[in-house]
Amino acid sequence: MHTIQLINEMQSHATALRSSGHLIGLVPTMGSLHEGHLSLIDIAKEKTDKVIVSIFVNPTQFGPNEDFDKYPRMLEEDVEKCRERGADIVFNPTIKEMYPNGYSTYVAEEQISSGLCGVSRPHHLRGVTTVCLKLFNITRPDIAVFGQKDAQQCAVIRKMVVDLNISTEIVVGPTQRDDDGMATSSRNVYLSDKQRKEALNISMSLQIAKDMVNSGTKSVDRIVAEVIHHLSLSRRIRVIYVQVVDRNTMEPAREISLGTQRLCVAAWVDQTRLIDNIEL
Ligand code: PAF
Repeated sequence: MHTIQLINEMQSHATALRSSGHLIGLVPTMGSLHEGHLSLIDIAKEKTDKVIVSIFVNPTQFGPNEDFDKYPRMLEEDVEKCRERGADIVFNPTIKEMYPNGYSTYVAEEQISSGLCGVSRPHHLRGVTTVCLKLFNITRPDIAVFGQKDAQQCAVIRKMVVDLNISTEIVVGPTQRDDDGMATSSRNVYLSDKQRKEALNISMSLQIAKDMVNSGTKSVDRIVAEVIHHLSLSRRIRVIYVQVVDRNTMEPAREISLGTQRLCVAAWVDQTRLIDNIEL
């Protein structure tokens, strides 16, 4: 496995791989790799024969008062994890390489991005689509693999790929959970033991909603109210949103329609912003 920092080098490498008939799989990440990311490498390996993992903490997807500066960075450990998991290339450009002085072009999906996280993080998804399109142009992947935990991000990237006629196939891997049900996330490292214990209420509340649906509840309002009630029992949690949405358009739903929707939650656990979702 080798690591590449320069865009030119990555592009010529990817072009050479493609001309010699290789299928390229890209796993875009911001590093601080956990089992969620590593499971995406497994998926990319199953479907392609050269796997590139990009590691880049993308400044354009963080708002001014967000955690860009303190976002965990552990490149050496990450590179080792990629090697162990069988990736072929780690692409880890600098910020200057990706956004040189005078950079001024952004790509924004404007419908799916407008709800959910788009409300409280107005430029976040624009930063994600911009960096993903750049990464697609740099690594020329046949497939790119994203994690279902970022359900809205997945829907937005799928839409971008259709709208802009990008030939990369978007594959979504299931959310990985720790034994206690907590969704794996790089931001979990911010949580103390006490905070983590309370944060578990997020995945528990999703399960409560799923059980309600399984036992026949059709009312979205009742389900959302129950989830908010469950979360409000925890002193450290402040709900940002709890919504049942169509799994493709992310439009809010009124009635449960089995197999077509997701319940999405974002909440602060003290100073840490967490998201999670479940298929209903
Ligand atoms: O999901 C993430 O880690 C990031 O949003 C992504 C897709 C790597 C873009 O920076």
